[in-house]
Amino acid sequence: MDLKSKINLEKLPRHIAVIMDGNGRWAKQHGKPRVFGHRNGVRAVRETTEAAAELGVEYLTLYAFSTENWNRPKLEVGALMKLLVETLHKEINTLNKNDIRLQAIGDISQLPDSTRKALLDGIHNTRNNTRMTLVLALNYSAKWEILEAVKNLATQVSQQKLDPADINETLFSASLSTHDIPDPELLIRTSGEHRLSNFLLWQVAYAELHFSPVFWPDYNKEHLYQAIIDYQNRERRFGKISEQLVP
Ligand code: FPP
Repeated sequence: MDLKSKINLEKLPRHIAVIMDGNGRWAKQHGKPRVFGHRNGVRAVRETTEAAAELGVEYLTLYAFSTENWNRPKLEVGALMKLLVETLHKEINTLNKNDIRLQAIGDISQLPDSTRKALLDGIHNTRNNTRMTLVLALNYSAKWEILEAVKNLATQVSQQKLDPADINETLFSASLSTHDIPDPELLIRTSGEHRLSNFLLWQVAYAELHFSPVFWPDYNKEHLYQAIIDYQNRERRFGKISEQLVP
């Protein structure tokens, strides 16, 4: 039986988040510069997006550039930003054909003008699509996002628009950049690393974590299917015991 048909479509995660990792090491294995890995990573982005949409996943979030990634060599950062522009321009038609809406989380005000413009155009041009939402995390870090939410709530308290006693999980979630996106049930990280790297720290509180040894440029549909099957074979207890769970 092929992997895809082993997936229970009734129990799909609504939201899958992915830490795409290993582009640099993949390039090194091939004796090429790091940027070659990022270029080949775009194929994996396309394939994963297509597979998730075909299955009926509602949200797919990809960690494309973290706040910490600015510390990489200037040449690599420049090449990544250029690649994003190129990819966004090239793929917008495909997103529209497949009824996929593009969104972004992160401090996009700090992106180079051309990258921000390509992103905002992409978001605008796909805004009416409803089959799946593809969220790009760009210049994103969870600690930045949480601090922004805290500042926002503190301002409302100081202006006496909010009673601190009313701050609860729902209100806090609504203050994050993911306010209109459900929390991911499944978080995948590729390349054999076992870290969260400042990604969606609040939102993954109850997510199942899946670590794949595959470098991102080699990641394909079958790998995603396997991650979903593993997720479906786990028992999600949310602090309860097995006997309390409704089958
Ligand atoms: C991690 O590999 C990858 C990134 C930081 C960038 C991911 C970007 C792309 C796949 C290209 C464009 C993306 C989109 C969404 C259009 P790494 O460089 O950290 O690899 P290493 O750990 O082996 O060095």
